[in-house]
Amino acid sequence: MTTIKSSLIWAKQRLQDSCERPLFESELLLSYHLSKDRTYLHAFDDDKIDNIEEFKSLIERRANHEPYEYIVGSASFYDIDLAVKEGVLIPRPETEILIDLVADIIKRENLTSIAEIGVGSGAISIILARKFPNLKIVATDICDIPIEVARENIKRYGLEDRVEVIKSNILDEVSESVELVVSNPPYIANDFKLEKNVKEYEPKEALFGGEVGDELLKQIVLDVKAENIKYLACEMGYNQKEAMEKFFNDIGVKYYKFYKDLARFDRGFLIEFEKEEKL
Ligand SMILES: C[S@@+](CC[C@H](N)C(=O)[O-])C[C@H]1O[C@@H](n2cnc3c(N)ncnc32)[C@H](O)[C@@H]1O
Repeated sequence: MTTIKSSLIWAKQRLQDSCERPLFESELLLSYHLSKDRTYLHAFDDDKIDNIEEFKSLIERRANHEPYEYIVGSASFYDIDLAVKEGVLIPRPETEILIDLVADIIKRENLTSIAEIGVGSGAISIILARKFPNLKIVATDICDIPIEVARENIKRYGLEDRVEVIKSNILDEVSESVELVVSNPPYIANDFKLEKNVKEYEPKEALFGGEVGDELLKQIVLDVKAENIKYLACEMGYNQKEAMEKFFNDIGVKYYKFYKDLARFDRGFLIEFEKEEKL
């Protein structure tokens, strides 16, 4: 039988070409396989490993560029873990900035009812619902797997009473009146060259926004304006600020601002629309 130490040497070698941190990822996958934390691996590195073939198949999947999160079925996001699987976007750290921006508005304006477009794993809606115990959220998605996974995650955190997930294009099936919309929509141009782990494993519906990339973003802006909703906050691509700014000026919005991610790339925007009073 093989020891922890020798398995890690083999796994690190096997992951050399597919990961930036092959030893670290080997340790994570071995920890997952053994249901132990990483410190255990160092403390007991002469221990033998049961079911070594199973561990090897996890390493082979990673060597084939399958994202770590799909292999273990879980992703860390903000302060929680979320179930994920193929068909659902793995939530990205930059989306935490969008959440903090929206949280500031919810707090300042005392909002109690918002919508999310493109729920994915449920990352945005779940974090916001956990931050604000009086907040109700209706979240949409066009794909079945994200809807199923988001509902599972919402249940895991006991939020079924306040976060509803519905199958809908943008806001088409949303009947509740909401005060703010948040979205991290697909915004990548169809022909953009993505890394293998993203291109071959993550869902196209979550990535590509059209020929230019910003088509769905613009449609979301138009739909939220048409619904007379006051606030819209969206994530966007690093190269979309100029086109979106021109679009905001063309259609007329009361106020907008862009924000950057931690790498100082343009990453999203907040819009406040002029609310038309109903007679
Ligand atoms: C980039 S992912 C974001 C997932 C999640 N909100 C997050 O931030 O991790 C975009 C999501 O939007 C969904 N989507 C794509 N087009 C849509 C549309 N027209 N209406 C609603 N959802 C859409 C995709 O299926 C995908 O789950």
